[in-house]
Amino acid sequence: MSGALLEIRDVCKVFDRGKSSEVVAAHHIDLTLRHGECIAVVGESGCGKSTLAKLITAVERPDSGQIVFGGEDITALRGAALRQKRQQMQMVFQQPMSAISPRMTIGRFMKVPLENFRVVEKREMEAEVDRLLDMVQLPASYKSKLPHEVSGGELQRVMIARAMAGRPALLICDEATSALDVAVQQDIVGLIQRLQRETGVACIFITHDLSLVRQVSQRVVVMYRGRVVEEMPSDSIVSRSLHPYTKLLISSVFTVNCDQSAVPDVRPEDARVKKTADACPFYGRCPRGTAACGEAAVALHAVPGDAAHRVACPVVLKELNV
Ligand SMILES: Nc1ncnc2c1ncn2[C@@H]1O[C@H](COP(=O)(O)OP(=O)(O)O)[C@@H](O)[C@H]1O
Ligand SMILES: [Mg+2]
Repeated sequence: MSGALLEIRDVCKVFDRGKSSEVVAAHHIDLTLRHGECIAVVGESGCGKSTLAKLITAVERPDSGQIVFGGEDITALRGAALRQKRQQMQMVFQQPMSAISPRMTIGRFMKVPLENFRVVEKREMEAEVDRLLDMVQLPASYKSKLPHEVSGGELQRVMIARAMAGRPALLICDEATSALDVAVQQDIVGLIQRLQRETGVACIFITHDLSLVRQVSQRVVVMYRGRVVEEMPSDSIVSRSLHPYTKLLISSVFTVNCDQSAVPDVRPEDARVKKTADACPFYGRCPRGTAACGEAAVALHAVPGDAAHRVACPVVLKELNV
């Protein structure tokens, strides 16, 4: 199927931390995900990745803007209508152990969504659990195991199988590989790729680790302080990224392959720097920043000749004559 599965339109979310302190977790976010597409969302801790996932699944409500899923505006959905939509979008988190009761068998755990969503007839339930476990390459004998009897990677497979039980159109993996060691991370990434191919599920792969991005996703979205600062095809992130913040992220991951002379010398945030609300959020740390960066509003613009590549850096956009 082609066309947009998810459209995030001009979404803003500010958290009030009391005593006139607030956190801008999403600032005018515009993002489209096609059916069956996988995008990676990257950025350092606290930049708003999980908030974005919560806004999509309506765990958090936007202050303004719209979330359109499957052609329907779900921003104001409540109750049964919202639960029905949520079946279509499932999340997998970093800590599988905290998502399952230690005394619940994996088989029982897998049946919960099958019962809730009435995916199959009661008599087909066992076979469906077997099928889902098989889909993530776990034997049916795992149904009788307790969470502590399987490895972290296996338990994450169970989470993914359970997330797939309601036949979702969208799987959101929020740091789903972050607690696993490197070899197991690769297994999980391979599994997500295969599920995408075999079921056509779209995926939002949230990570602070850039090294997995090219493998798992077609497109990458780079966030900084609640903004999307760059969006581009994943396979060219090392060679063609333009935003100084993206370059900083890359330099911290691909230290071997990356031309270090091209890495900007990023300084700590300069507390004296004054920024307007819509100015570049990276200005206080950016080695390329000019006074204008702190004043002018900045938004994503397409790179000329490459509609799939958008960047929000005043300096870069000026150089590109955008
Ligand atoms: N419920 C909340 N109340 C107040 N602040 C929050 C809440 N949820 C997230 N935040 C803040 O919003 C910012 C973005 O958080 P989050 O989306 O969890 O970032 P990430 O997932 O990228 O690490 C952080 O500064 C975080 O402290
Ligand atoms: Mg998070």
